[in-house]
Amino acid sequence: MGTENKVIRCKAAVAWEPGKPLSVEEVEVAPPKDHEVRIKIAASGVCHTDLTYLYDYEKGVEPQPFPLILGHEGAGVVESVGPGVTAVQPGDKVIPVLLPHCAKCEFCLSSKTNVCTKTWGKLQKGVLADGMNRITCKGQQVYQFVGVSTFCEYTVVPDYNVAKIHRDAPLDKVCLLGCGVATGYGAALNAAKVERGSVCAVFGLGAIGLAAVMGCKAAGASRIIGVDINAEKREIAKKFGVSEFVNPNDHSKPIQEVLVEMTSGGVDYSFECVGNVSLMRAAFESCNAAWGTCVIVGWTEKNLMSLLPKDLLLGRTLKGCFLGGWKSVCSLPKLVEDYMSGRILLDEFVTHTLTLEETNHAFELMTSGKSVRSVIKM
Ligand code: APR
Ligand code: ZN
Repeated sequence: MGTENKVIRCKAAVAWEPGKPLSVEEVEVAPPKDHEVRIKIAASGVCHTDLTYLYDYEKGVEPQPFPLILGHEGAGVVESVGPGVTAVQPGDKVIPVLLPHCAKCEFCLSSKTNVCTKTWGKLQKGVLADGMNRITCKGQQVYQFVGVSTFCEYTVVPDYNVAKIHRDAPLDKVCLLGCGVATGYGAALNAAKVERGSVCAVFGLGAIGLAAVMGCKAAGASRIIGVDINAEKREIAKKFGVSEFVNPNDHSKPIQEVLVEMTSGGVDYSFECVGNVSLMRAAFESCNAAWGTCVIVGWTEKNLMSLLPKDLLLGRTLKGCFLGGWKSVCSLPKLVEDYMSGRILLDEFVTHTLTLEETNHAFELMTSGKSVRSVIKM
C-alpha cells in the first residue's frame, strides 16, 4: 500500500520545551498541499544552530515556538508531491533547504544575493506558507524549525525549498550541504571571494569553520590561520588546509594583536564561525586596516559591536553571508556533484554517525568539543 495522500505515522525527536532534552515520539505527518513536497528523510547533520535554539539563549536568539522539531541539515527521497509541483517527483533524491529560492522574486532574479523574499518571515516562525505546518504529535501542532525539521523520518516543505540532487548521491554525507558545509565553503568563495595567494584567518573550527578553510584552500590562499580554543582542532584542521593553528588561550595578548603581528599588518580575509560577538570584533580587527575583509558567518542575535568611522575609513570591509551566498535550490545540486567528483570533502567532517534516539548525545558531543559533525541516520 502506498502512502500518497495519507497521513504518515513515524518517529521524530521532539523538543517539547527549551532547555530540555529531545524526546523521540510518534508523530503524524500530513500529505503535502499545493506546491509542497513530502520527503522521507534519510539522514541529518546536527548543527550548532539546532543546539542554540534549544539551549543557548545566551546568544540572545529569538525564542522559537514549542513543541518544535529541530534539524535543518538533512537529505532524503521525495515520497509524494502536492498539486502544482513540477520540479521533483516521488523517488527523487533531495535536500530540503532552509533558504527558499522561488526563482521569481526580485531577490532571486538579482545576482547580488541568494536571499529569496518568499515566506521568509513565516519560515522563521516554524510554519509553512499557509501559517500552519504538517506535523502533529499527541494531538498538538508541532512547529518546523526554520520550516524544515529534519530530526523526523518525514517532513513537508514548499517546493521552492527543495534541491533535487544526483541520484547516486550518498544522503548521509551530502546532507551536510544543507547548511554547515555550504555555509562555510561559500563564505570564502562567494562572500569574501578569496583570491589566490591571500592570507586568511578562520575563527572557530567546527564544521562551518572547517568548510570556510576548505573554501580558502580551494581559492588558492597561501596561508590559512585556524583559530580555536580547543587544542584538539589543530590536527583535524590540517586535513582541510589550515597552515597555522593559533589557540587564543596560549597567548596573553588579545588574539587580534597576535594575528596582526603574525601577518605584518593583518590578514586579507577573516571569518567568524562561532557566533560570539567579542570574537567577531577580534576577527574584524585581525584584518588589514586598508583592505581586509571580515565575514560574519556565526549566528547570534546579540548586539554586534560599536564601530568607529576610523575602523572602516581606511578601506576595511565588514560583511556577512547566509548559507554561504549560494542560491539554494540551484547551487546545492552542483555542490553535490563537486563532492562526488572529489572537489570538496564531506566524509572528513563526519566524526559520529548516530540514531534518532541518540540526537541528545550529538548535542553532548558538540558541547564537549568531541565531534565535528554528528550525522543522524534514520
Ligand atoms: N574562540 C575560538 N574558537 C571558539 C570560541 C572562541 N571564543 N568559542 C568556540 N570556539 C570553537 C569551538 O571550540 C568549536 O571548535 O568554535 C567551534 C564551533 O564549532 P561547532 O560547535 O561545531 O559549531 P558549528 O556547527 O560549526 O557552527 C558555528 O555557526 O551557524 C552558526 O549557530 C552556528 O554560531 C554557530 C556557528
Ligand atoms: Zn545549520
